[in-house]
Amino acid sequence: MLGNFTYCNPTKLYFGKDALDGLNKELPKYGKNVLLVYGGGSIKKNGIYDKVVAILKANGKEIFEDAGVMPNPTVQKLYEGIERARKAKADLILAVGGGSVCDYAKAVSVSVNCEEDPWEKYYIRFEEPACETLPVGCVLTMVGTGSEMNGGSVITNREAKLKIGHVFADEKIFPRFSVLDPEFTYTLPKYQMVAGFYDIMSHIMEQYFSGEDDSMSDYIMEGLIRSLVHSSRVAVKNPTDYEARSNIMWTATWALNTLVAKGKDTDWEVHMLGQAVGALTDATHGMTLAAVSLPYYRHIMPYGLAKFKRFAENVWDVSPDGKTDEQVAEEGLRAMEGWMKELGLVMNISDLGANEGMLDDLVNATLVMTGGYKVLTKEEIGQIFKESL
Ligand code: NZQ
Ligand code: ZN
Repeated sequence: MLGNFTYCNPTKLYFGKDALDGLNKELPKYGKNVLLVYGGGSIKKNGIYDKVVAILKANGKEIFEDAGVMPNPTVQKLYEGIERARKAKADLILAVGGGSVCDYAKAVSVSVNCEEDPWEKYYIRFEEPACETLPVGCVLTMVGTGSEMNGGSVITNREAKLKIGHVFADEKIFPRFSVLDPEFTYTLPKYQMVAGFYDIMSHIMEQYFSGEDDSMSDYIMEGLIRSLVHSSRVAVKNPTDYEARSNIMWTATWALNTLVAKGKDTDWEVHMLGQAVGALTDATHGMTLAAVSLPYYRHIMPYGLAKFKRFAENVWDVSPDGKTDEQVAEEGLRAMEGWMKELGLVMNISDLGANEGMLDDLVNATLVMTGGYKVLTKEEIGQIFKESL
């Protein structure tokens, strides 16, 4: 562990079957006006909306609704949310949903008192808020992004054909509290559930495949992946297996709550490739990552061979006996590919609506990161997208 860092994570978590009771402890800390933010209506069908509203009313809150946050929330919707938060004179934003709803709530939080255009300020110039922000709380209904315990907020600008994430450094943008009840995720369609599983995998890999020093975080990440692979195999057969779903929910939080990134450069190029696909196709986040991952990792493997070999041995139990390092590393990726297919992930971007005619736009929408084993050229990015088609 050679890096220097500061670590602080202020989000309070309530986890388990009674987690929603935590709202009764948290709500009294904030003023009367609550902006209740949610998505396209799943929470009304599965009863979570009614439970949350009952607790808000019991705590004497005035509820202002901001519904219809779409997966991959757009900047247009953000502008609407800012107006709603202003009219409500909101004291707290309560996000009830998946990563999209939590991300969007953070974007509203940093924009409501901001005079500048939030897209330009936060998503193009990556500035930190200079204005008063609103506290955000989350009730999580979809597992994967880690948004429940981090400062990340991803917004899509369809006109500009860009999907960009800002990871706010300021801890006051992290949710003040998050409610994590694994049973709230049972109603997720299988497609969303497994996309979330792969999102978790990708978050861990983005941080693992970076750096060459002996980092304690790498050992934690190997454990997180082993738990994820085990529990995902159980959950895909039996989605209401509480033990598996709760392990996965907890893994997702730890995969991206900033802990395992400390002291590491971290890569994030798979997310840049995936976000470009998302910007052009509006496809489900986890699936965009699944569809570009193997071509990317096979491309960079020669530059980080020792780590890929370690991944194969420590995560996938590949035996190195009598094999070259390349063979061991490739066997590890093949084991991962087998697991991905078992889950039923989308393995090609053409299955997500991308086509050869989009290649230039995809390359232009991909930010180049410098923390992984190879800084990609535009040509290499184009090649990886071609191989992902
Ligand atoms: O909108 P509703 O009707 O609620 O339906 C949602 C949505 O259609 C549905 N859903 C959620 N919980 C459900 C449910 N359906 C039935 N039962 C439930 N319990 O699932 C669909 C997807 O929801 P969404 O919130 O979009 O999924 P996810 O949690 O994967 O969030 C994706 C967004 O998060 C960003 C992604 O880029 C994407 O925009 N990310 C945020 C990160 C962060 N904050 O750190 C990091 C990630 O890498 C990611 O980029
Ligand atoms: Zn992700």
